[in-house]
Amino acid sequence: MVHRPKKAGKSIGLVPTMGYLHEGHLALVEQARKQCDTVVVSIFVNPIQFGAGEDFDTYPRDLSRDQALLEEKRVDALFAPSISEMYPAGYHTFVEVGGEITAKLCGASRPGHFKGVATVVSKLFNICLPDKAYFGQKDAQQAMVIEKMVRELNFPIEIVRVPIVREADGLAKSSRNVYLDAEQRKQALVLSKALAEAHSRIKQGERDVARLKEIMRAVIAASPQANIDYVEIYDAADLSDVEQVDRNVLIALAVKIGSTRLIDNLLVEV
Ligand code: PAJ
Repeated sequence: MVHRPKKAGKSIGLVPTMGYLHEGHLALVEQARKQCDTVVVSIFVNPIQFGAGEDFDTYPRDLSRDQALLEEKRVDALFAPSISEMYPAGYHTFVEVGGEITAKLCGASRPGHFKGVATVVSKLFNICLPDKAYFGQKDAQQAMVIEKMVRELNFPIEIVRVPIVREADGLAKSSRNVYLDAEQRKQALVLSKALAEAHSRIKQGERDVARLKEIMRAVIAASPQANIDYVEIYDAADLSDVEQVDRNVLIALAVKIGSTRLIDNLLVEV
């Protein structure tokens, strides 16, 4: 698939996705289209990054709709492998990124998740041979994990991060938003509201991380169907602990709205 453009000296951009594409995914594709000669999008709902009891079986899928969207965006190739192509019987090789970056946030609440992500992304890199690969800031921790993996395993690939694409009212676009009913869709705004509140307090001079986390928790608690998984503020470079907002920080949260777990984050540069 990619050997011909590679041999011809064309640059290859890869956008890894799990499909059910929305404008967030398409922003990655557009960025790749601008920067690379050949754009490859992968669609694969990767079973090994889902924990027991998570939504692998119900994860939304619509390959023909995705295909049409990608044709509109002038994508050169779609790679949509089957599970047995990626993980044939007897498959036993995994990639595990260690350290604080995978121990916190989604790494703590979804054990094994980043091992599944790092493994599938390594395989996609080796199959698609990209020069650049595109990841959304929506999953900021995932982008950090992939950047660390690329550095430490010497993948000759540049990781490009793309800003979060939101709905008009602030909700971060996500394939999982389809799980929300009308009432839950309203309550889901607490994630972006909590981030906006923290941001405005920081701009007003609040620097105390514990206080900022309290303020965000209070915003979320006002929504009866919202259950906090985590609300955290860490150093944006390596997710190390911070007590004061005296450097660039990542404010990250995961909240369950009914049974749907949503994540969002804000990078604050000081
Ligand atoms: P998926 O959730 O489909 O997301 C694919 C890519 O789109 C990720 O890099 C994600 O950060 C980005 N993305 C999703 N919503 C976005 C938004 N609202 N704004 C900007 N970017 C957004 O993330 C995965 O799939 C998987 O873990 C994967 C990397 C494909 C490995 O299986």
